[in-house]
Amino acid sequence: MAEPILDIRDLTRAFGPFKAVDGVSLSIARGTITGLIGPNGAGKSTLFNVLTGELAPTAGTVALNGQDVTGLSPDRLFVAGMGRTFQIPRPFARMSVLENLMLAPQGQAGETLPSLFLSPGKVRKQERQLRDRAREVLEFVTLGALADHPAGKISGGQMKLLELARVLMGDPELILLDEPAAGVNPTLTGILIEKIEELNRQGKTFVIIEHDMDFIMSHCDPVIALAEGKVIFQGSASDAQANPLLLDAYLGGPVHG
Ligand SMILES: Nc1ncnc2c1ncn2[C@@H]1O[C@H](COP(=O)(O)OP(=O)(O)O)[C@@H](O)[C@H]1O
Ligand SMILES: [Mg+2]
Repeated sequence: MAEPILDIRDLTRAFGPFKAVDGVSLSIARGTITGLIGPNGAGKSTLFNVLTGELAPTAGTVALNGQDVTGLSPDRLFVAGMGRTFQIPRPFARMSVLENLMLAPQGQAGETLPSLFLSPGKVRKQERQLRDRAREVLEFVTLGALADHPAGKISGGQMKLLELARVLMGDPELILLDEPAAGVNPTLTGILIEKIEELNRQGKTFVIIEHDMDFIMSHCDPVIALAEGKVIFQGSASDAQANPLLLDAYLGGPVHG
């Protein structure tokens, strides 16, 4: 089997005596759109937070492209090629949509010297390149017309697209999306899916947390299910649909608010 883009071994994250993520082992195959499901409180966001360095693991290891990246900071992981969006987007509300993107970390796309060491001419050139790139990414996510709007004034769905744009500024090869379609109208969800699939065809790997089972079953394969911090299912989307364990996890768990 080809080397997985992400290899997770026995990963645990405890909050006091409570294990939100409890001994998770998973491989994410390069080039897939993997769906991550599970009832509210299953540990999905915590798993993302540990994978992307927002939280330190209590135990276990994470390897990205065969390199041990356990416990690295979000910045380091972003540069290594892993980007993520947040369940609740948090843009700089009073800055414009374009400015928000220009502030986004550059990751692999921006491996340049700090501007401190550059001549003013080079700084201007770099800023122009950054602005051009931000405009290009905004057009890609269909927010071009909103470039000069305050980021705090766009709709919730547009904020989700801005979140995706922010991640794309860094050109990561692995993108983790936390509930990208939650609270987003069907038109914007359609755009989001189209963009995810286009990026996937370009070679990017996705892991997507989503509650909307139609979204998961139509666009994600394989599917992984978490419940109470543990992996309870891992397999194809069609097997997931036929699996009684998953029904239990959903019917038995608290309703997502
Ligand atoms: N920072 C934290 N401190 C204490 N408990 C937390 C923290 N973050 C998450 N939890 C708990 O961990 C469990 C999993 O949460 P979370 O990962 O957000 O679930 P999901 O994203 O699957 O809905 C929940 O019981 C939640 O209350
Ligand atoms: Mg969550």
